[in-house]
Amino acid sequence: MLSKSQARAFFLGGTGVFSLAFLGLTYDSHKQVPKQTNEDKLTEQVIRGKKIWEKNNCMGCHTLFGEGAYYAPELTKVVERRGKDWMRLFLKDPQAMFPGERKMTDYDFSDEQIEDVIAFFEWCGNVDLNGFPAKPPLGRVAAPIVTTGKSDVPQPELFKTICIACHSVGGVGGIVGPALDQVGTRIEREPMKDWIRDPQKIKPGTPMPQIPMTPEQLDEIVDYLQGLSNNQ
Ligand code: HEC
Ligand code: HEC
Repeated sequence: MLSKSQARAFFLGGTGVFSLAFLGLTYDSHKQVPKQTNEDKLTEQVIRGKKIWEKNNCMGCHTLFGEGAYYAPELTKVVERRGKDWMRLFLKDPQAMFPGERKMTDYDFSDEQIEDVIAFFEWCGNVDLNGFPAKPPLGRVAAPIVTTGKSDVPQPELFKTICIACHSVGGVGGIVGPALDQVGTRIEREPMKDWIRDPQKIKPGTPMPQIPMTPEQLDEIVDYLQGLSNNQ
């Protein structure tokens, strides 16, 4: 048994030691904030992007760092998840990417505002959050045709960031448009180029959007799609 004075000393000593530990750790946490948030990368552009975020109340539908509303996707890692090309297209015309589905507000952003918003999300995505958010489930995976998904040439970057949101290859990708594994057996090179260059011209009203790309990127994508049918 502790005597009364021993109990008091134990209480005061314990409280003192743990208060010091608490203050010390709090100080340490605060010291790490600038590093974890990459404070040095808070550029003018990032700040402009944050103002756009606040002014338009994006949080009324989205969460960022887990804070906000649960109507629309969590956006902390959206740049990593979608890539900048996809985001540029999406923010310019959100409905192009989700034909016939629930829609995100079209804000009519200028190209500069879009770059600001993307810079802001990129900064958010690089904050060290000790693993938040957890990796999402893979979401919609198309089932229709599962092939090797291999082509004669590697999958072009633009295909990985944009086309795969709607089309699948080898069973991986979106289901808004048809699986493209065997598209080379259905459509020849030139008509395929015409289609991708301007889908609306070939089939007015089609949900496939016109995706800006250079002639080199178009060639690369057509090589890739045609090459798919040689590897099944
Ligand atoms: C009225 C609700 C609403 C508001 C407000 C809103 N969004 Fe969205 N947003 C959505 C929905 C819904 C989606 C999912 C795509 C869809 O179904 O159209 C989405 C998707 C997105 C995506 C793509 C996320 C992904 O992983 O696919 C980004 C980026 C985005 N919104 C940015 C913004 C920004 C920036 C603002 C503010 C300027 C904003 N949103 C305001 C509803 C909203
Ligand atoms: C927003 C969704 C969406 C995106 C993004 C998209 N597509 Fe499509 N695509 C479609 C839809 C839907 C169709 C079917 C069109 C129709 O029949 O009206 C289609 C059709 C096609 C076809 C013809 C397929 C067939 O079997 O007839 C090709 C080829 C194609 N897309 C290539 C691409 C490429 C390459 C990209 C990226 C540069 C791309 N698509 C991006 C939705 C999309």
